[in-house]
Amino acid sequence: METTKKLSAFFCLSSLLCIFFTMNQVISKSDLMDTFCIGSSGNFTRNTTCNTNLNTLLSTLSNQSSLANYYNLTTGLASDTVHGMFLCTGDVNRTTCNACVKTATIEIAKNCTNHREAIIYYFDCMVRYSDKFFLSTLETKPSTFWSSTDSIPKSFGKFGQRLSDKMGEVIVRSSLLSSSFTPYYLMDTTRFDDKYDLESIVQCSPYLDPRNCTTCLKLALQELTRCCSDQLWAFIFTPKCLVSFDTYNSSLPPLPPPNRSDSYSIRGSNKLLRGMVLDVAASVFALRRL
Ligand SMILES: *[C@@H]1O[C@H](CO)[C@@H](O)[C@H](O)[C@H]1NC(C)=O
Ligand SMILES: *[C@@H]1O[C@H](CO)[C@@H](O)[C@H](O)[C@H]1NC(C)=O
Ligand SMILES: *[C@@H]1O[C@H](CO)[C@@H](O)[C@H](O)[C@H]1NC(C)=O
Ligand SMILES: *[C@@H]1O[C@H](CO)[C@@H](O)[C@H](O)[C@H]1NC(C)=O
Ligand SMILES: *[C@@H]1O[C@H](CO)[C@@H](O)[C@H](O)[C@H]1NC(C)=O
Ligand SMILES: *[C@@H]1O[C@H](CO)[C@@H](O)[C@H](O)[C@H]1NC(C)=O
Ligand SMILES: *[C@@H]1O[C@H](CO)[C@@H](O)[C@H](O)[C@H]1NC(C)=O
Ligand SMILES: *[C@@H]1O[C@H](CO)[C@@H](O)[C@H](O)[C@H]1NC(C)=O
Ligand SMILES: *[C@@H]1O[C@H](CO)[C@@H](O)[C@H](O)[C@H]1NC(C)=O
Repeated sequence: METTKKLSAFFCLSSLLCIFFTMNQVISKSDLMDTFCIGSSGNFTRNTTCNTNLNTLLSTLSNQSSLANYYNLTTGLASDTVHGMFLCTGDVNRTTCNACVKTATIEIAKNCTNHREAIIYYFDCMVRYSDKFFLSTLETKPSTFWSSTDSIPKSFGKFGQRLSDKMGEVIVRSSLLSSSFTPYYLMDTTRFDDKYDLESIVQCSPYLDPRNCTTCLKLALQELTRCCSDQLWAFIFTPKCLVSFDTYNSSLPPLPPPNRSDSYSIRGSNKLLRGMVLDVAASVFALRRL
């Protein structure tokens, strides 16, 4: 799926001569990324023991991503311990997950040298490592969001209200799925007014207990509705959960209601077809930060 990122630059050559230009760069949604290097204190990766542990950890994560959508591990002993994990969004297949995590582990090592903790988000996955245990704790920062720059058409009615109602309901439903393979991942597609389909996705990281998962999703939804409830699509990734929505003109036949097993299937033909509709609509695209 290709789209366009708007890059703007403003140069002042002297106090009298300023040049402003904007260019559109074609990027794919899967190229979106955001890196957070945390805790620069200390010389974590210059220390050979820690460095070796971290490299082993990242290499293991990269290898494991061809087998599952989630993995976590701990390497090293005592003060040399490093914890790490990756999570792929529930609707990508193994090939996409593996490619995303591979790139992420390379980028995180390159960009966050000497940091005791780092987190990198892509549209399809996230990778994280830390010298502190974090697997079951609820954290809401650092987060990142991306959204369409195209607004919802007026004909969509009270979209903001429908969005928060529908996603609130999906969050409640997802809390009942605690034993699934990709924990708490749920995708819902609902048609409104026979005009458009709203696709809602929620997902938590494994080892987060259901109550904390629900809290994480509710907070993420709050952020998402605050920034983006008048956009055609938006996506927020926090350390423990993700929430996203997308809209499609419903020129296609109604979708079968997703059931539990369906919701774990990899990108189906419906998604690809509807993705083509979106390509036309989302030709302008922007990166934003919280
Ligand atoms: C590296 O991380 C910094 C934040 O720590 C970020 O501003 C920058 O864009 C990142 N670069 C890459 C290539 O990830
Ligand atoms: C790295 O850490 C060690 C022990 O914490 C310290 O002795 C050393 O000075 C540090 N080196 C650098 C370059 O910061
Ligand atoms: C990951 O796979 C590569 C290639 O198969 C291998 O060389 C490397 O040792 C593996 N890493 C770990 C930590 O198992
Ligand atoms: C992942 O983390 C959980 C929770 O701490 C732990 O029980 C599990 O053993 C870890 N998995 C691996 C492969 O280390
Ligand atoms: C490496 O780091 C560990 C703890 O992070 C520390 O115990 C050890 O002394 C460090 N080694 C060097 C050579 O700095
Ligand atoms: C995985 O998904 C990607 C992107 O949707 C697609 O291009 C690719 O063909 C899929 N691979 C398999 C093996 O299904
Ligand atoms: C929920 O998250 C909080 C904050 O990280 C943590 O202290 C608590 O133990 C978690 N609850 C459960 C039941 O794990
Ligand atoms: C749906 O169609 C309307 C009017 O035809 C258009 O303005 C809008 O951008 C389309 N939305 C999407 C998501 O394709
Ligand atoms: C979900 O769909 C699958 C096949 O599409 C079907 O076999 C299964 O019974 C359905 N599950 C429920 C709970 O409806």
